[in-house]
Amino acid sequence: MTPALSSTAPPPPPDRIPPGVHGALDYALLAPKHMDAAHHAYVAGGSGLGVSAQANRRAFDGWAVLPRLLRDVRHGHVRAVVGGEAWEHPLALAPVAFQALAHPHGEIATARAAEATGTCLVASTLSSRTLESIAQASGPARWFQLYFQPRREDTLQLVRRAEAAGYRAIVVTLDAALQTAGRQALAAGFRMPPTCVAENLRGQAPVEPPAPQPGQGRVFHAMHFAPTWADLDWLMAQTHLPVWVKGVLHPEDATALQARGVAGIVVSNHGGRGLDGAPASLQMLPAVRAAVGPGWPVLFDGGIRSGTDVFKALALGADAVLIGRLQVYALAVAGALGVAHLLRLLIEELQACMALAGCATLADIGPGALVAQPPAFPSLSEEMPC
Ligand SMILES: Cc1cc2nc3c(=O)[nH]c(=O)nc-3n(C[C@H](O)[C@H](O)[C@H](O)COP(=O)(O)O)c2cc1C
Repeated sequence: MTPALSSTAPPPPPDRIPPGVHGALDYALLAPKHMDAAHHAYVAGGSGLGVSAQANRRAFDGWAVLPRLLRDVRHGHVRAVVGGEAWEHPLALAPVAFQALAHPHGEIATARAAEATGTCLVASTLSSRTLESIAQASGPARWFQLYFQPRREDTLQLVRRAEAAGYRAIVVTLDAALQTAGRQALAAGFRMPPTCVAENLRGQAPVEPPAPQPGQGRVFHAMHFAPTWADLDWLMAQTHLPVWVKGVLHPEDATALQARGVAGIVVSNHGGRGLDGAPASLQMLPAVRAAVGPGWPVLFDGGIRSGTDVFKALALGADAVLIGRLQVYALAVAGALGVAHLLRLLIEELQACMALAGCATLADIGPGALVAQPPAFPSLSEEMPC
C-alpha cells in the first residue's frame, strides 16, 4: 500500500510496474491493492448513489467498432490539433484533485509523466501541490483548471498565478457548484487526511455567505457563491488565455458558450460526481457536437478505460479526451512511471483500434465507424466499479 503523505514519512519505494499490467484497464483493476480502501472509494465513487458514474461506463458498451478491410493505414498517426495547439495524441490528463491520496508525490509525479509522454496536463485548482510546482515538473503543454472562488480577487489571483506559471489555457469547471457526498466514500468512512490540502488555496481568508433567507434551506444557501453567466463574462475579460468550459451536457449550454466566445468545451458530467442522475457524458456527446457544428473545439471525458473507449468518443464527436480516474489508479500502482505507461498503453490501444477499423488518422474516425449494440451480455463495466 502506498504510504500516506506526511513530512515525516519515509521516501516512497521506487516506482515499478507490477506484473499483470497488460492494458490500460489493468490499472483500474490493480488500484484497490495499492490504495487505502477509503481513499480508493473516494476516487472510484460518484456522487449520491453513483448512478451517473456507472452510466458513464455503460454508455461505452452501447457501441461496437466496425472493422474495415483492405484499407491502407501504413501512414497512420494519432496527431491532433486541439484549440489550435498541436498535440502528439488526442489524450490529456483531466484535472483530478488531491492526488496525494494516491501517491506521496501526487501531482508532481503526474506532471512528470505528462512531460515524458508529450501529454497535456490539466492541473486542478484543488491540487495537493501548488500550481507553480506542477508547472515546473510538467512539459509546456499545461492548462489550469479553475474553480470560481467566493471572492473575485481570489479567483483573479489564481488566474494570474496560472498565467505567470506558463499555463496555456484556463479550463473553468461549472458543473460542480455543489457536490453531494458519494455513498461509496461515506460507506468506506472516507475523510480527507489533514496532510492532503488544496495547496493553491492556502492563505485564502474564509468567507461566509449572508444569513439564509427564512425557509431558504441549506442547499440553496450553499449556492450563494455559485457562478453565473456574469461571472463567466467577467473571467473572459480578465485574461488573455483561452477559456474553456468543462462540465457541458446540454446542447443549448454548448451553443450559448460558443456564442459567448469560449475557446471550447469539455463534454463531461464530472465523472458522475456532480448531479447524480445526469446522463452519461458519452450519451450527450453527439447532440452537443451536432449543436456546435463540425470544427469547433469539443473535448470529452467520463468513463474512458481503454483506447477503444477513446476511439468511440472521437467517433461520436470529440476532438480529444481527458483521462480522469485511470490516471489516479496508475499513479497509485506505479507513480510517474505508471501514469506514463498508462498513457502509452492507451495510445497503442487507440492505434490498434484505428488500424483494424481502417482509420489512418483521427480525421478518418467518424460516427460511421460505430454501430449501436444492445447490452445483451454482462459487460466489463458490470463486472467492475468505476
Ligand atoms: C477524485 C476525483 C477528483 C476530481 N477533481 C476534479 C477537479 O478538481 N476539477 C475538475 O474539474 N474535475 C475533477 N474531477 C473530474 C475529472 O476531471 C473528470 O471529469 C472525470 O474524472 C472523468 O471521468 P473518469 O474518471 O471516468 O475518466 C475529479 C474526478 C475524480 C475522480
